[in-house]
Amino acid sequence: MAAPTASSTSPEQATASPTIPSSASPSASPSPALPTPPDLANTVGDAPAGLSNTAIDRARHRVHEHGNYYGYYGFRTQTVPDARLSLLPRELFQGNRILDLGCNAGKLTLEVLNHLGATRSRGVDIDAHLISQAEAATNGEQVEWVLADFMEESYEFGEWDVIMLLSITKWLHLHHGDEGMRKLFRRLFEVLPKGGVLLVEPQERENYASAARKNKNLRPAYKLIQMWPPFEEELKAVGFTLENCIEREEGGFSRPLMIWRKPL
Ligand SMILES: C[S@@+](CC[C@H](N)C(=O)[O-])C[C@H]1O[C@@H](n2cnc3c(N)ncnc32)[C@H](O)[C@@H]1O
Repeated sequence: MAAPTASSTSPEQATASPTIPSSASPSASPSPALPTPPDLANTVGDAPAGLSNTAIDRARHRVHEHGNYYGYYGFRTQTVPDARLSLLPRELFQGNRILDLGCNAGKLTLEVLNHLGATRSRGVDIDAHLISQAEAATNGEQVEWVLADFMEESYEFGEWDVIMLLSITKWLHLHHGDEGMRKLFRRLFEVLPKGGVLLVEPQERENYASAARKNKNLRPAYKLIQMWPPFEEELKAVGFTLENCIEREEGGFSRPLMIWRKPL
């Protein structure tokens, strides 16, 4: 049986992931009934007999259960700088320190430095392979890479002028529930200086169900969710003010870009 090939839809909608990782993310925990990720990686061209496409698809979704897609930028508009960054006012980045939470392979983390005048940036990701890709793409810029789960209490954010939370809220929400999201918003508000900015690109509510269907680990939190993107009420409740909301459509992605500011 041939394994499914990557489709041209976005990774969050596709039945197959763009690239099969050679190692699991720190918390990926495949079911014993399915091959471990390395075994799966060896089956790209020829999946073992008896494994249905649905089983392979679900195993892949468990490996990518944090949205830790490899080859992600092949599925977004491939402009430099990224189309989302180009839509935002340059003043947000110029001369500022930028924290990119869920940086994937670091494309945007580097672009804020190399194209938008930021002075320093840090990319944080939970996936070791993605952080090593980011490191490999770095050439002496004022950037640091951190392999961490920033939802852990022990993670120290440090002080930044702008924090980016782009195309990641669904994964955080499905792992940590409403309370986890409220706690994250409170922490981000606390660490930002007055006048600091939180950029949020929330994923669509409609995409949650499919992620939970494909990965049983995400179902318990999904069933309990009561607050939904774009989290306006919750972000206002912790003290942020909404400076701008740019509605946009990018291929299969229909997500607003929201600029939230901590008042002076
Ligand atoms: C769908 S990608 C979006 C990448 C990038 N922010 C962008 O919009 O271009 C989400 C990224 O967040 C990372 N991620 C998810 N949960 C995380 C967590 N708790 N801590 C650190 N990184 C996380 C994933 O590994 C993945 O690289």
